[in-house]
Amino acid sequence: MKIVLLGAPGAGKGTQAQSISNYYKIPHISTGDIFRRNIAEGTRLGKTAKRYMDSGQLVPDQLTLELIEDRLGQADCKDGYLLDGYPRTVVQGEFLEELLDEHGSHLDCALLIQVPRSVILERMTGRRVCPSCGASYHLKHNPPMKKDLCDICGCKIMQREDDKAETVEERLDVYDEQTSPLIRFYAERHILKAVDGTRAINQIFKDIVDVLSEVKKNDHPQE
Ligand code: AP5
Ligand code: MG
Repeated sequence: MKIVLLGAPGAGKGTQAQSISNYYKIPHISTGDIFRRNIAEGTRLGKTAKRYMDSGQLVPDQLTLELIEDRLGQADCKDGYLLDGYPRTVVQGEFLEELLDEHGSHLDCALLIQVPRSVILERMTGRRVCPSCGASYHLKHNPPMKKDLCDICGCKIMQREDDKAETVEERLDVYDEQTSPLIRFYAERHILKAVDGTRAINQIFKDIVDVLSEVKKNDHPQE
């Protein structure tokens, strides 16, 4: 299955992506995680991306297009993938559509996690992430089993640079202006599905599995 996750910053894309990726055994591709890895490694891409990310702006389309084309061309993407944080503009959505088209393929689902802006700020300021594997936690709603240590790889979890309140506001404005038009873009292609992202993490995951099972059934009616 080829799935795109849509939703505002802090909607829970990364949190759900981990479970979806394990459940369907497809790679979880987060452009935000790829940029953060490049920043940690001090690459040229990382240095450029950091300037935009720290101020809550999007990294220019051209940089993301090359990156995603390269990533989706890798062997583990052959049978599907879960895109988290890409596309983020209609230009990126069109690029992905053309790329898939060239390979005689298509997206199966654009899954929107809906969370009102009022809930997001609390989520973002309480978030802690693992700088090594990218796993996402919340001090109150989703703490790691051992204080300050990642459940998956044991590294010390940290607050993201762009999770300060003023940057979060900017990211939400950028989402409204540049990313939310993708909701209509995918609705027009009849692959948009939405889940209520204000519920408990495991309840949302259950809703997502229900939605994706339905998508799969309609794609392969005789299975
Ligand atoms: P990116 O890393 O993609 O960030 P984002 O979209 O802003 O989303 P977040 O990762 O902040 O939120 P999320 O939805 O994953 O929520 P999470 O699961 O962590 O991008 C960062 C930056 O990189 C961008 O601003 C941009 O500059 C750049 N970039 C990336 N991709 C790009 C692209 N394609 N084009 C251009 N620029 C790009 O959850 C949030 C918190 O809430 C966590 O603490 C979690 O534990 C908690 N939580 C989750 N679900 C629940 C729940 N149900 N109840 C209670 N708490 C919950
Ligand atoms: Mg994320």
